[in-house]
Amino acid sequence: MDTVLSGIRSTGNLHLGNYFGAVKNFVRMQHENRCFFFVADYHSLTTHPKPENLQNNIRTVLSEYLAAGLDPEVATLYVQSDVPEIPELYLLLNMNAYVGELERTTTFKEKIRKQPENINAGLLTYPVLMCADIIIHNADKVPVGKDQEQNLEMARKFARRFNHMYGVEYFTMPEPYNFGQELIKVPGLDGTGKMGKSEGNGIYLADEPKVIRKKVMRAVTDEGPKVPNSPMTEPVANLFYLLELLSTPDVVEHFRAQYNGCTIRYGDLKKQLAEDMISFTSPIRDRILEIYNDDEYLRKVVRMGAEKARESASKTVRDVREILGYRSF
Ligand code: TRP
Repeated sequence: MDTVLSGIRSTGNLHLGNYFGAVKNFVRMQHENRCFFFVADYHSLTTHPKPENLQNNIRTVLSEYLAAGLDPEVATLYVQSDVPEIPELYLLLNMNAYVGELERTTTFKEKIRKQPENINAGLLTYPVLMCADIIIHNADKVPVGKDQEQNLEMARKFARRFNHMYGVEYFTMPEPYNFGQELIKVPGLDGTGKMGKSEGNGIYLADEPKVIRKKVMRAVTDEGPKVPNSPMTEPVANLFYLLELLSTPDVVEHFRAQYNGCTIRYGDLKKQLAEDMISFTSPIRDRILEIYNDDEYLRKVVRMGAEKARESASKTVRDVREILGYRSF
């Protein structure tokens, strides 16, 4: 059984791309692996969020992942800042991470460009904290997007270096995991590419019906087919893809036939797509709100998560201290 671990940025709301992509795989994987999912709320301090926003973001992220199907009884779902063993391991690992290699990290260089007024040391050592997150549970597989591959590469480097420096084979090398065939890439509504937060082309699980209708009606299309059975342009193919994901086969067939017969009106397709999206997201959205407002449930979830995470983390920190030469008198 593999140990799978993923850190969740505390500022990202879930859109349909996340839902059908990573989250669906998390939900599936939690039954087949030893899974750790956590809200990376220490990492988010690197951008200096307002305290009330930090708190709300953590609550939102937890509510959305729980509503999307993560089961806190099955997986270990926790908040990073509830596990003091993580910052302890981070401190220890910092001694073997070199400033030069940290400065060369792409994500750090990007941050320097994005927030030149706030180049704090936490940004520089971000990969070390991420390494601590991962190796504290000896994770084998870490599902990450392209933008996090270098950070994961550094986590492997620090883990390998630790083993080498102390002549141990303590840490396993965490491998990136991209779900292979199972990963569905959901297109956005802007004609090209996939749904993403930074692209601003997404439908969010928490979007209200009127927001969904507005976004879908504005989706990019083309001038319509001129001859029967024309190949589809990318924007139209994307809408059909979404329809296939969210509507019934007969609805898809209906619009496909209209497209092939050149009688399609994209407005009708969009109306149908919007309503089917709403039917799909509404129950999830209700559940998000319900969980968000349920202090007692959330408290129970994070307590249980912290307890399970600390059990695994404290063993690692105890061993690492021992390896480093900290012994009790
Ligand atoms: N850096 C990741 C992101 O921005 C979040 C994260 C923090 C993470 N710690 C992690 C991801 C550990 C995987 C493993 O998305």
